[in-house]
Amino acid sequence: MKILVLNGPNINMLGIREPEIYGRETYDDLVEKIKKHAREKGVEVSFYQSNHEGDLVDAIQKAYFDKIDGIVFNPAAYTHTSVAIADAVKGVMIPTVEVHISDVNGREDFRKVSFIGDVAVKTIAGKGLDGYCLAVDFLLNGEKNEG
Ligand code: DQA
Repeated sequence: MKILVLNGPNINMLGIREPEIYGRETYDDLVEKIKKHAREKGVEVSFYQSNHEGDLVDAIQKAYFDKIDGIVFNPAAYTHTSVAIADAVKGVMIPTVEVHISDVNGREDFRKVSFIGDVAVKTIAGKGLDGYCLAVDFLLNGEKNEG
């Protein structure tokens, strides 16, 4: 199984940005954590992060041609604004799990709106970086082994 781990704007600033919300681990720590988890589960993972909306759309379209089986996706702030990204996810028909490090429903009202949630097979929020590994497990096994 081939999974793309896709991250949106400011996720490259993990460890620096608002550590009281997003923690002290860096983007590189996140990548290492997911790689280790994926290795244990026998899943092939690739990674992409961008601060630009169109680049994320391009990456989602590329996933289709690369025959990616599932996407673990933290669209970050674009979650709450981007019809273009939601359309891309819907268009490629690749099962996509939406991940948020923080509990978006317990924060400002604008974070409760998610265009991606409408097209994702599952949303995992508020579980820190572990949420990405739970998303991999969900794509691999479905609901029952979500942990
Ligand atoms: C986030 C939540 C978003 O509201 C925010 O804009 C982010 C990160 C999260 O992982 O908790 O950049 O997606």
